Amino acid sequence: MTLRNRLAVAPMCQYSVTDGFVGDYHLVHLGRFALGGFGLVLVEATGVTPEGRISHGDVGLWSDEHVPGLARVVDFLHAEGAAAGIQLAHAGAKASSLRPWDGSGPVTEENARPGEAPWPTVSASDVPAGPGWPVPHALSVEELAEVRDAFVAATRRAEAAGFDVVEVHAAHGYLLHQFLSPLSNRRTDGYGGSREARMRFPLEVVEAVRAAWPEEKPLLVRVSAVDGSTEGLTIEDTVAFARELRTLGVDVVDVSGGGLGGGWEHPIGYGYQVPYAATVREQAGIATMAVGLVVDARQAEAVVATGAADLVGIAREAQDDPNFAVHAARELTDAYDTYPVQAGPRLASRDRLLGRLGPWAGPDPVQVVQAS
Ligand SMILES: Cc1cc2nc3c(=O)[nH]c(=O)nc-3n(C[C@H](O)[C@H](O)[C@H](O)COP(=O)(O)O)c2cc1C
Repeated sequence: MTLRNRLAVAPMCQYSVTDGFVGDYHLVHLGRFALGGFGLVLVEATGVTPEGRISHGDVGLWSDEHVPGLARVVDFLHAEGAAAGIQLAHAGAKASSLRPWDGSGPVTEENARPGEAPWPTVSASDVPAGPGWPVPHALSVEELAEVRDAFVAATRRAEAAGFDVVEVHAAHGYLLHQFLSPLSNRRTDGYGGSREARMRFPLEVVEAVRAAWPEEKPLLVRVSAVDGSTEGLTIEDTVAFARELRTLGVDVVDVSGGGLGGGWEHPIGYGYQVPYAATVREQAGIATMAVGLVVDARQAEAVVATGAADLVGIAREAQDDPNFAVHAARELTDAYDTYPVQAGPRLASRDRLLGRLGPWAGPDPVQVVQAS
């Protein structure tokens, strides 16, 4: 698959739908990134089961009825030249959470919105997501097969909706990460203990998704390269996982971080997770997407030019500037052809005029020169 450029909009939960159904909000929210020139637009963490949602407001793909709304978004992204991806997710012990603007932490009988009761959560082990969170039910082996099958069914629906890319969410402290990390996985049954055993269930899910997803379509897996705590997952664990992912036919590892073990005990700054993407790329021999405080076109270009990653994910900066990709093309190559045709040529001629005028000097709103 060829993207028009290497900029991807990283998945961003909007907590803004009911019963999993996307509508006009998502068409506009995601559509503006296609108009803004991004090569790939990834739909937010999408619940493969209702229990796997982070909140009552999450997007879902646990039913065929969810397909038409997403297909409408996909069609718009395609019409505007972007590839469409979707992140398939199960929140595990971090399910049944409040929307961030309603507070932080789990839904309780006391803080629930009307009609939005809390639901029981599941995980690798009976380890709560944090202090004050409910104890999740540790999934039995039979129940693991059900979760795996839910990922597979959602993958088939993603294909039915016309998506080009599926990303399996194995990061940020959600269910598959809860298996990977020694902080949350205390199992003794072959799905916990050693690194190999902790990787087993996430790899079973990925293998089943790969088998269900058309061979010619890219499969991404998002990982937390390290846990927030220095006591948890290490980059060596993640390289080992990435090697297995490559063997299973995964195309790109989307290298994020954190989500378990409290805060972030590692260096923080512009592009702070880029070195993890570079390490995975080099040591596991697989393409990577780098993400995390990439905020500038030249910075994004340098991520690719230095060989740290193959794709650059942009989240918050894209919310602030949905036109980030077209602005980047203009800044780096003076090109206007990634703008929609409705805008590009007119902006190019306006900018030639502005070049003749020089910057607006103010404070007078009118500042004219003689027409030539
Ligand atoms: C509003 C918001 C929602 C997010 N939702 C998701 C999500 O659904 N899935 C996911 O893997 N990461 C999610 N993230 C993390 C982003 O994809 C990204 O990795 C992170 O924000 C760092 O990139 P940035 O500095 O460009 O924002 C979210 C981030 C934000 C700001």
